[in-house]
Amino acid sequence: MLNNLKPQAPDAILQLITLCREDTRATKIDLGVGVYKDGTGNTPVMKAIRTAGKQVWDAETTKVYTNLPGDPAFGNVMRDLVLADSVSADRVSAIATPGGTGAIRQAFELGRQANPDMTVWTSNPTWPNHVAILKFMGLPNSEYAYFDAESCTVDFDAMMDSLKGVKAGDMVLLHGCCHNPTGANLTLEQFGIVADLIAEKGALALVDIAYQGFGDGLEEDAAPTRLLASKLPEMLIAASCSKNFGVYRERVGCLMAVSETAASAPTTQANMNYLNRIAFSFPPDHGARLVTTVLSDPALTADWKTELEDVRLSMLGLRTQLADELRQRTNSDRFDFIAEHRGMFSRIGATPEEVLKMREDFGIYMVSDSRMNIAGLNPTTVPHLAEAIAKSCK
Ligand code: LMR
Repeated sequence: MLNNLKPQAPDAILQLITLCREDTRATKIDLGVGVYKDGTGNTPVMKAIRTAGKQVWDAETTKVYTNLPGDPAFGNVMRDLVLADSVSADRVSAIATPGGTGAIRQAFELGRQANPDMTVWTSNPTWPNHVAILKFMGLPNSEYAYFDAESCTVDFDAMMDSLKGVKAGDMVLLHGCCHNPTGANLTLEQFGIVADLIAEKGALALVDIAYQGFGDGLEEDAAPTRLLASKLPEMLIAASCSKNFGVYRERVGCLMAVSETAASAPTTQANMNYLNRIAFSFPPDHGARLVTTVLSDPALTADWKTELEDVRLSMLGLRTQLADELRQRTNSDRFDFIAEHRGMFSRIGATPEEVLKMREDFGIYMVSDSRMNIAGLNPTTVPHLAEAIAKSCK
């Protein structure tokens, strides 16, 4: 029977890890998968996570199952981190999930439970795995305009125009901050306008927030999600701790749902618990426990925030340096948007052929849509990338 299986194309983002690893050039730069790297190319365990790990190891007396939604303390700290007091706690349900991807998958499942006819609206472009999961699930997917490839900024008018097609009971997926893959983001005011449209249409917003703290700051990056929560009767939030806590392989994610009333929240919670049960029973606990430990201890929280802020500022510094280098090399302001984009990624507007040329001639590994991971750079490698872009992109 297994002979019936069709070959699977490799994941375009994950494939770059292998390709770059096999490249023997000393000057190669991996700007592919969204993983933070420090100036030495290392992805460190954050100090607060390391301390939390020791505490958990000493304090944990059992590995018995937790609960279907995971440890409730994790849901509580995630609710406070992402939503703060934008919505009353008794309207929020939460489940721990294996990473942000798990939260996205469970969000789509929950939406389908609520409305089997739902169409999911995703930005054009979006994280390719959003589309892949929807396709695998057989869920209808419509795109809304988002990115102006010429200016590498958000085309808000086109976005609003295409969102006119949203119907009651559809789901609209928004990136809470640090849009992946473009790095171009809505202003808070624009998020408010989108929220009004979603409310008017009677659609369900799903916010994917995987990079809180990587853009303009922890609170600033959560502001759009909180604004939507305060304006909309109900919504879903898929949060990831992979990047901002650096716990990638632990798989720490959380799906939160805001129900219309406190009275309806237990039913929402029960449906979310059920979705965990039929997918994997209990979600992974260890990474979630590390995050809970950090966020429950003021000293560890302060330590984590300081390290996260250093990470954020280092990426901003690299953005400015790269934009400056490109301004000099191209004698134009064409790439100034790189300094304006936020988060780990920027889509720079190169063609797939130009991306390939940069790979072959300069050992630069970026996704074929010209998404690059800013955190793959350091101050010493920026000039090499700038040279590659200036020489390869028309
Ligand atoms: C990315 O976009 O590179 C990350 O979210 C990692 C992944 O799983 O694709």
